[in-house]
Amino acid sequence: QADVFTFDPGFTSTASCESTITYIDGDKGELLYRGYPIEQLAEQSHHLEVCYLLLYGELPTAAQLQDFENRVTRHTMVHEQMHNFFRGFRRDAHPMATMVGVVGAMSAFYHDSTDVNDPWHREVSAIRMIAKIPTIAAMAYKYSIGQPFVYPKNELSYSANFLRMCFAVPAEDYVVNPILEKAMDRIMMLHADHEQNASTSTVRLAGSSGANPFACIAAGIACLWGPAHGGANQACLEMLREIGTVDRIPEFIARAKDKNDPFRLMGFGHRVYKNFDPRAKVMKESADEVLNLLGIHDNETLKVAKELERIALEDPYFVEKKLYPNVDFYSGIILEAMGFPTSMFTPIFALSRAVGWIAQWKEMISDPAGKIGRPRQLYIGAAARDYTPVSAR
Ligand code: SDX
Repeated sequence: QADVFTFDPGFTSTASCESTITYIDGDKGELLYRGYPIEQLAEQSHHLEVCYLLLYGELPTAAQLQDFENRVTRHTMVHEQMHNFFRGFRRDAHPMATMVGVVGAMSAFYHDSTDVNDPWHREVSAIRMIAKIPTIAAMAYKYSIGQPFVYPKNELSYSANFLRMCFAVPAEDYVVNPILEKAMDRIMMLHADHEQNASTSTVRLAGSSGANPFACIAAGIACLWGPAHGGANQACLEMLREIGTVDRIPEFIARAKDKNDPFRLMGFGHRVYKNFDPRAKVMKESADEVLNLLGIHDNETLKVAKELERIALEDPYFVEKKLYPNVDFYSGIILEAMGFPTSMFTPIFALSRAVGWIAQWKEMISDPAGKIGRPRQLYIGAAARDYTPVSAR
């Protein structure tokens, strides 16, 4: 076990930290949540059980899981006054803009302790974050399409509740499709945590000042929004649509290789994985499963995605640079098939990653070794010099 968990950041930056939550081996394409391979969890577990694992470090007994699910379920509603925040946004605001604002505003409702080092506060903040973020994401979606908010229902599963809050309307009954429920739950598990990625590092750095967890998570959502990070799932599907047909792929491959062209293949490459992103493999299987089970066979976008992947994996340029499909390459295809607009892809990434953010925040705030501290820089600017008055310039 020692060789797997020896923490060797391989660099001296003060930005490194110690963590026991998630392990990635970029060369082997391995991802472990508290030591459990993501492939086994995606196949045999479900999102709330993975939330328990990430938060507490062990898989729960049946009684522990039941208690955890009950605690989360009973925090899924948001304070009624929070509905007013949404009305301050333009209808066409991107749901990520709404989520950054409303999650940050949770500080005004649920930050009922001045000391984030209070164990009770840490625990209840984690439960509230996991419980309420699907409701906030669904409300952001409903607001953007001019439909009334739908309240959570306690008898539904975590993923079924989210789908119903997004797609149900008061005018008719809505029954959650079990295929979509399972696909949604798998997407949440696959995105739950990913070591010290940009948004998680943002949450840890914000938390290291003692800021309240809701403000820290809002900072993480803001960081995730970027197209180089969590915004890539939306950018990837839009790229596949722009390519449109298989015969136009070479044109885009050429652009991706052109150093003078800022275009990059969205959904490809990774700061850490220099082998296949293990999540992309599971996501690809789910894409096939969901599309087949929904009877969507002539999906041009999926055809373009598979042909683009095949070409890129054979192209010497991409092979040499070790560019493989990442978690964002197939997720958009599944989410689109489920009925979500591209603007909801990153909010779904954010609601899935909320457990990773809050688990990493809890670990950091509970243990000084987990603090990122204050990163330093390599100064390459002007040497010290004396001020000259404007008359002499
Ligand atoms: C996520 O960190 C995480 O864990 C993030 C994440 C998580 O779960 O939190 O996994 C989620 O953010 C996944 C990544 C999603 N982003 C995208 O799909 C956007 C497209 N990808 C690129 O922007 C890029 O690959 C990055 C930002 C992800 C990584 O950038 P790097 O570190 O520059 O990539 P690299 O070192 O692997 O690049 C090696 C070379 C470079 O060329 P050279 O400078 O060596 O000449 O490959 C090039 C890059 O320019 N390159 C690409 C490319 N990605 C890298 N060329 C074309 N298309 C691409 N997608």
